[in-house]
Amino acid sequence: MFHVAEQQYASKDELYRSLTLQAQALLQGEHDPVANAANLAALIFHAVPGLNWAGFYFLHGDELVVGPFQGKPACVRIAIGRGVCGTAAERRETVLVEDVDRFDGHIPCDADSRSEVVVPLIDPAGSLLGVLDLDSPEAARFDAADAAGFERLAAVYVASLST
Ligand code: SME
Repeated sequence: MFHVAEQQYASKDELYRSLTLQAQALLQGEHDPVANAANLAALIFHAVPGLNWAGFYFLHGDELVVGPFQGKPACVRIAIGRGVCGTAAERRETVLVEDVDRFDGHIPCDADSRSEVVVPLIDPAGSLLGVLDLDSPEAARFDAADAAGFERLAAVYVASLST
């Protein structure tokens, strides 16, 4: 049985360092992309404060399709270049949105979401696999430390598929 640590962290750096270790332990020895996405989404959702949605969109053909997540039901298909997720996928870089109402083309899946950060998942060969999407009901919930932390967690996920 795996227990999500119910503890306080002195800094975001410490939170994400601990979460990275927990994610590595949780995904260790398992390569299934859906199983590992499901467990990582659950770990993040329950360990990172202030989230209302945490999960994956996977690239299928020329669009993103929702994968394992925690939170309210979400939009199923997102075209590359559309919304925050499609923009991160198209640019192949992390997109941090402090206020979703100011992001042109934001796709409102959960009306509670006020800020969002989306990290692209790129495999070692350089192919886009999908994105990791985190939403918060608080405006400006995410900063560069959160983005860097989620990038490390996304890297643990991608590595788990092959090692
Ligand atoms: N708001 C996202 C869509 C996905 S949901 O947040 C789960 C976007 O604009 O891409």
